[in-house]
Amino acid sequence: MHKPILSLLALAALSASAAPASPRHGDKWIVGMSQCNLGEPWRVQMNADIRKAAEAHPEIELVFKDAQNDTLRQRSQIEEFINAGVDLLIVSPKEAAPLTPPVAAAFSHGIPVIVLDRKVLGNDFTQFIGADNRRIGRAAGDWAVRRLLALPRVKDGGRARMVELTGLMTSTPGQDRLAGFHAALQGQPVDIVFSADTQWLEPQARAEMESALAVNPQIDLVYAHNDPAAHGAYLAAKSASREKDIIFIGIDGLPQEGQVYVRQGLLEASFEYPTGGREAVESALKILNGDAVPRQVTLNSRFFTRDTVASGGKWLP
Ligand code: FRU
Repeated sequence: MHKPILSLLALAALSASAAPASPRHGDKWIVGMSQCNLGEPWRVQMNADIRKAAEAHPEIELVFKDAQNDTLRQRSQIEEFINAGVDLLIVSPKEAAPLTPPVAAAFSHGIPVIVLDRKVLGNDFTQFIGADNRRIGRAAGDWAVRRLLALPRVKDGGRARMVELTGLMTSTPGQDRLAGFHAALQGQPVDIVFSADTQWLEPQARAEMESALAVNPQIDLVYAHNDPAAHGAYLAAKSASREKDIIFIGIDGLPQEGQVYVRQGLLEASFEYPTGGREAVESALKILNGDAVPRQVTLNSRFFTRDTVASGGKWLP
């Protein structure tokens, strides 16, 4: 007897979140964007991509909030969006577990939610948009292994020694970039001699790399989970006059950041991590117009090396 009532309610909630009838306030759709921080160029780019895609759509009004890399602040900013009764919410969460309840709360209030780049737990949102970080990590790992196997010392039967500077490990891209990379290392003559969580931050990566250099006279390669961390590691090696002995690779591949580092020869490779900003606005418009959208959109990515950066990189295999 209870079951049908429950599923009717669930259906009502679902259709409310899938197809709002009209804007809740005035004649424009209010779209809230909860950004976890604007400290890295990549996040500034994400907001810029969202703004640019929305320019052609005067029927939506964007409201941005920046949580300044503070999980509690992001939680309360999402609650503010719920209380303000936004028509749709885009969230790029700092961490998975602590941002799951406010995202679920928005969704259960009938606000469609697009989760962008980093994931939350469970399924209480309308759509997730992001690239496949495991695949990116795997491609970075395969690339690193090929490069390391070509070193004379490794060809002669030695083992390669590398450093991994991870992103924030309570966020899903950090977990997936690690898992993909480690899968590629299976059975290879490569040892990770130092590993640290840089929380995605360049100064942290620089400090961790100083420690790595201090205790490891031989480092062949640094795999950083983002380009700011790769750059921080490079700067640490440079001030120890060891940058020429080490191969640096990173992730993000922004034209104004990672691609420049590759052109300048600081990084040997950068793997693109598209922001998904444009796709989020396209999906938001569909949802607001009552169209169905898939639960997950997986974005493709390219990689840039010294040989390919000038011609726009190559798509991941
Ligand atoms: C920016 C950033 C990017 C990274 C992404 C992962 O905050 O650290 O450099 O690719 O977040 O979510």
